[in-house]
Amino acid sequence: QRSLLGLKDMAREEITELLERAGYWEARPEKLTPVLQGKFVANMFFENSTRTRFSFEVAQKRLGAEVLNFSAAVSSVQKGESIYDTVRTLESMGIDAGIIRLKPIGVLAELATRVKVPLINAGDGNNEHPTQALLDLYTIRKQFGALQDLTVTIIGDVLHSRVARSNLWAMKKLGMQVRFCSPPSMAARELDVPYVTMEEALKSDVIMMLRVQLERHENGEFESAEAYREHYGLTVERAASIAPHAIIMHPAPINRDVEIDDELVEHPQSRIFQQMQNGVAVRMAVIERALG
Ligand code: CP
Repeated sequence: QRSLLGLKDMAREEITELLERAGYWEARPEKLTPVLQGKFVANMFFENSTRTRFSFEVAQKRLGAEVLNFSAAVSSVQKGESIYDTVRTLESMGIDAGIIRLKPIGVLAELATRVKVPLINAGDGNNEHPTQALLDLYTIRKQFGALQDLTVTIIGDVLHSRVARSNLWAMKKLGMQVRFCSPPSMAARELDVPYVTMEEALKSDVIMMLRVQLERHENGEFESAEAYREHYGLTVERAASIAPHAIIMHPAPINRDVEIDDELVEHPQSRIFQQMQNGVAVRMAVIERALG
């Protein structure tokens, strides 16, 4: 039984194995393969989610697991119960694994040492979102056949982005050329990544847009939707200059007409909804690894 707390410390081979296994699950014609019958998995979301929570639930149900959904908003967290006590409560009831999304950074690693069940990180603060990065890598690999030497520019609010960080760690291990492009107020200068202009970013094989995470802003990082779109948005005009083989990605949820124009979300070169689709197979592989 194995936790998945992040990709920073995961070996390249293990990442590749998960992508291979996701390919196996994607290719299975039947919807249900109950290899996890009798296993109980809890989805513990202390922060809101649509894609991650539901694709984990679909993945768990496709594997035949019993699913428990915990949402902090309607739980005893509202009475002051701690994250640790919540997870221990579910563990004491017999769950076999927990999917967990948290606001604070640095809590998950310690939590994983204090419980016996494997934990899968569904996003913790701006630290890591490993299954999002795995589904992003899966989507890119599916498109290009390989990852080595591809150029990716991650554009936008990297300061607050766990998606950017998990992708960065994994993409570097897999031989991709990673660059960031962001407003100075949303840059993550502590990370060893070159920053490029929007003009340069548009020359990439993979153009990965990020959501402006207004709910995490504390220091007036965001001026206005208009100014952001003008300088860092993937507009229809900008998208006209990307290479015919390039793809557009975004982890979603999307601020349409802020970081990406409405018309581009389902553009032929966009892979945004394919990312969501691929998330199910990737999460099947991750849950199987945790409980296999
Ligand atoms: N991409 C992503 O993590 O979306 P949710 O916040 O809806 O899970």
